[in-house]
Amino acid sequence: MCYAIPGKLVEIKKSIGIVDYFGEKKNVLIDYSNVKIGDYVYAQGGVLVSVISEREALEILETWKELFFELKRTDEKLARIETIPASKNLLSILQKVNLNKALKREELHSLLALSGKNDLRLMYETANNIRQKTHGNACCVHGILEFSNVCESNCFYCGIRKEKTLQRYRMSIKEIIDTARYAVKELGFKALVLQSGEDNWYTIEKLEKIVRAVRKLGILVFLSIGLRDKPTYKRLYEAGARAALLRFETSNANTFKTLRPGTTLEERLEIIRYIKDLGFVLATGFIAGLPGETSEDVINNILLAKSLKPEMYSFGPFIPAQGTPLENQSLLHKDAMLKIIALSRLTDKDSNILVTTAFETLDAKAKREGLLAGANSLMINITPKKYRDFYSIYDKRINIDLQKNVKETIALLHSLGRAPTDLGI
Ligand code: 5AD
Ligand code: SF4
Repeated sequence: MCYAIPGKLVEIKKSIGIVDYFGEKKNVLIDYSNVKIGDYVYAQGGVLVSVISEREALEILETWKELFFELKRTDEKLARIETIPASKNLLSILQKVNLNKALKREELHSLLALSGKNDLRLMYETANNIRQKTHGNACCVHGILEFSNVCESNCFYCGIRKEKTLQRYRMSIKEIIDTARYAVKELGFKALVLQSGEDNWYTIEKLEKIVRAVRKLGILVFLSIGLRDKPTYKRLYEAGARAALLRFETSNANTFKTLRPGTTLEERLEIIRYIKDLGFVLATGFIAGLPGETSEDVINNILLAKSLKPEMYSFGPFIPAQGTPLENQSLLHKDAMLKIIALSRLTDKDSNILVTTAFETLDAKAKREGLLAGANSLMINITPKKYRDFYSIYDKRINIDLQKNVKETIALLHSLGRAPTDLGI
């Protein structure tokens, strides 16, 4: 409803379509039979997910018409860079960015080391300005359904790791489909992330059933089911899933081996690359602030994310979870996360960058500040209330009532001039 605008399909070139949103064009993957030029469609994450009747589309567009242009003006205003005194070194790096030149490692290090108030402000404003110039005011809002907190892995950082004593839940196939239907039919979501621990109780067959039913709701099915084997991802693509979130967690192979016992970074990267090769819209990234992390690790994390050519970057701060080997580690400062968002935007203009729930937990203003530092995508937790507290990957996760979250998110997007058009590919 409020966070997805239909567009008109104006051109088709093989499997790529061009969708027009009030004159603004986005490329989308056409993955839908019987679609033709002139149809009104919904796209999410760069994938065309459903076609609606002209009458319905025109009705919705009528309500958006004025607001759409008003939002654009607000965004353009907020994305202007103010002239403030800043360090020479920063100005010369930002000039390079504006000239589309790749930044050197030392330059990334000096951006990461910035601490002056004005310098930070200028870096965030520049990242936001680039976001606006590259993507316009489009912002995707995806729902996330955490359907099982059972996990066969034992990641040191995670509060639902196998060895943790915890009340476990698994949603039945029916419950998952019913929850997804409610989110789509009653709340208007057009993309749902189906997330769980690494839980093989959900066999390929069960997952296929879920994916097919959720896809039938006319939305983008986004998987986040951890490290599963290649046949699982392949069959779920065939069943209709079109996006997958799998973070590499850290680019430091030693840290990876220590914190994710029994698995290696290489093996994870192979699955991430395979997911991309299958044609999934790929979301990947890392946890920021893991114990022992150096600034070299942070830069490597950003560069590794870029090299995987994801359609979406997902990174959140490490937040300790009680009852895990890392329970006493310290929290990251908010600026460390904002810098990572801004740096990722400055190194990869085309990226779509998510503000994660972990960041929202770290700081109440994360959504707003993240969106103003280069991010352009959000997620809303749609997990049923009775399960939500048990998906405790870290402590004190924000737990906002779904209706309230939807309302507040829409209000925030309006105040920032962001429109729920598709991000395109
Ligand atoms: N803090 C922040 N993020 C975490 N994750 C797991 N544990 C934590 C934690 N303590 C992230 C991992 C995983 C995703 C589902 O949650 O990056 O991929
Ligand atoms: Fe399981 Fe993922 Fe947590 Fe690791 S991070 S223990 S794989 S849920």
